[in-house]
Amino acid sequence: MSSPIHHHQFLLLGAGELGTAFLPHLSSLPNTHITIAIRTPSKYAHLSGPNTSLLSLDISGPSEDLAKTFANYSTVIICTGFGQPAGTITKLAKEILQAGLLRKEAGLGKLWFFPWQWGVDYDVTGDCGGLMPLFGEQLQVRKLLRSQAAQSHVTWTIVSTGIFMSFLFEPFWGVVGEEKAGAGFVVRALKSWEHKVTVTSVSDIGKTLARVVAGDVESEDRILYIAGDTVSYAELAGIVGRVTGKNVRREEWTTQHLEEELAKDPENLIKKYRVVFAGEGVWWDKEITVNYKLGMPLTGVEMYAKQHLAA
Ligand SMILES: NC(=O)c1ccc[n+]([C@@H]2O[C@H](COP(=O)([O-])OP(=O)(O)OC[C@H]3O[C@@H](n4cnc5c(N)ncnc54)[C@H](OP(=O)(O)O)[C@@H]3O)[C@@H](O)[C@H]2O)c1
Repeated sequence: MSSPIHHHQFLLLGAGELGTAFLPHLSSLPNTHITIAIRTPSKYAHLSGPNTSLLSLDISGPSEDLAKTFANYSTVIICTGFGQPAGTITKLAKEILQAGLLRKEAGLGKLWFFPWQWGVDYDVTGDCGGLMPLFGEQLQVRKLLRSQAAQSHVTWTIVSTGIFMSFLFEPFWGVVGEEKAGAGFVVRALKSWEHKVTVTSVSDIGKTLARVVAGDVESEDRILYIAGDTVSYAELAGIVGRVTGKNVRREEWTTQHLEEELAKDPENLIKKYRVVFAGEGVWWDKEITVNYKLGMPLTGVEMYAKQHLAA
């Protein structure tokens, strides 16, 4: 069991879908202050509270300044979302290492770093054969942390979450869709009906993160896995049928089909993601997860579907 930090000074970078979902869980921990860093604090005034304050910060700023800012916090959690220029997550990781050294010089405790890795298993996916340079960069950040964090007075924890639960049901993702004129639903398998996907709701990621930072699980310098659920596409189709009581048309999008679709439209990010999700590293057994080991009830696919699909 890790020894918990008794006074958390969190810096939460980004308050979008994920950062906002973390707030209620982190702010309810004892002896905690959360500083939310975003570019325009006036947009986020509603998030400030008794132990939550706002800081104007742009992660594209000079490294020296950012490292000095990061050094003021015991824990830095990155939730800045997609759409950052290539190299941003590496820049941030290097600034964190610099901040760790500044804390060491100042006689402060190690800096605990949760990098921008709330997703799949980048050790397995790599850069997906060149398809996903961002995933390749995620892997390089892991290598950097593994090789340099200890001497930089930094402890790191990566939390692999699978895709956000909501994403599985997004019409643009194309896996679960409603047919026209109330004719039921379509479920499309990526790769095959036996292939699986791990999904977690953003609130459950926050709930589990709070247990991690509270020291309820061994988390130092390692990758943790969580899962609201891990389902095969066959199971998903069964759930959609059961929950809606409607007809479910099943369509298999094989890897060959997904690659042909991408070849027609090679810059289409969603098509790239579908090819990636037909590959490995996108699911894991629930039994290896932190939430399973801690006996935490999280929202599974069937419960989420009941809340969002049932008439
Ligand atoms: N597993 C999945 O399925 C999945 C899917 C999507 C995302 N994710 C992960 O979820 C995380 C967050 O995603 P999200 O959807 O919550 O992102 P989001 O909703 O786009 O929010 C991004 C936040 O970061 C802030 N931000 C953006 N650029 C910034 C900059 N240069 N300096 C400072 N702040 C900046 C934004 O604030 P302002 O623009 O107001 O400054 C906003 O608050 C990411 O780590 C991503 O890996 C995972």
